[in-house]
Amino acid sequence: MSIQTPRTPQEYEVLTGGGAESAEVAKRGLSRRQLLRRAVGLSLGLVGAEAAYGALTMLYPNLAGKFGAAITLKGKDTYKGAMQKDFILDQAGIFYESGAKAYIMHLLPGDKTFFLLQGDTLNEFLDAQSWTVDGDGSYWAALYQVCVHLGCKVPYRDDCNSFKCPCHGSHYNVDGEYLDGPAPRSLDRFSMSFDKAGNVVVDTGKLNQHVERPDTGTRVLRVPGIDCSAQ
Ligand code: FES
Repeated sequence: MSIQTPRTPQEYEVLTGGGAESAEVAKRGLSRRQLLRRAVGLSLGLVGAEAAYGALTMLYPNLAGKFGAAITLKGKDTYKGAMQKDFILDQAGIFYESGAKAYIMHLLPGDKTFFLLQGDTLNEFLDAQSWTVDGDGSYWAALYQVCVHLGCKVPYRDDCNSFKCPCHGSHYNVDGEYLDGPAPRSLDRFSMSFDKAGNVVVDTGKLNQHVERPDTGTRVLRVPGIDCSAQ
């Protein structure tokens, strides 16, 4: 009686002239039917995984660098800081960035910017309203362009030194604070920061929608005091 020595799949292949399939059959002791079933199961599994990946991609598209995610804008120097009264769209203090659907506000440091609040109270409000204080002491915020009344795009008006919605007249200060009109609150703000290269980064996936209408005790900046009734 000859003793069968176990063979590796490679040995079996050489001895029998079979392919990889024969080798696998020999190695595992599987029938061809079982092997075929396994292959079909594996294929179906791969198709299912591919379909699930496709569905997830549709549900959670790759937003890197696009609206809905963090967007790296230009260097800080591009957004020249200004005093509140000197804001001119895309020249000083207030800059529109279409990709982020946001206005970048840049106010000069505290000795040049007059705040109605002071000390810890001011800092608490700035924090709650998503302001960013830079190392040079200047103040930044990224204001979402959409009117919080019914969603029109709000333009910045150089002639009013403020934002005025053309749809129903909601009026907002340079920092997005509510001034008058039907809007229920101040403009919403995105989180913003600076990267190591000194670029402005606006996270359009993080929106602060909780900046209430201010009253005389909670307003941060002065009211411009310019008639802005014309549309
Ligand atoms: S949508 Fe802006 S005031 Fe109505």
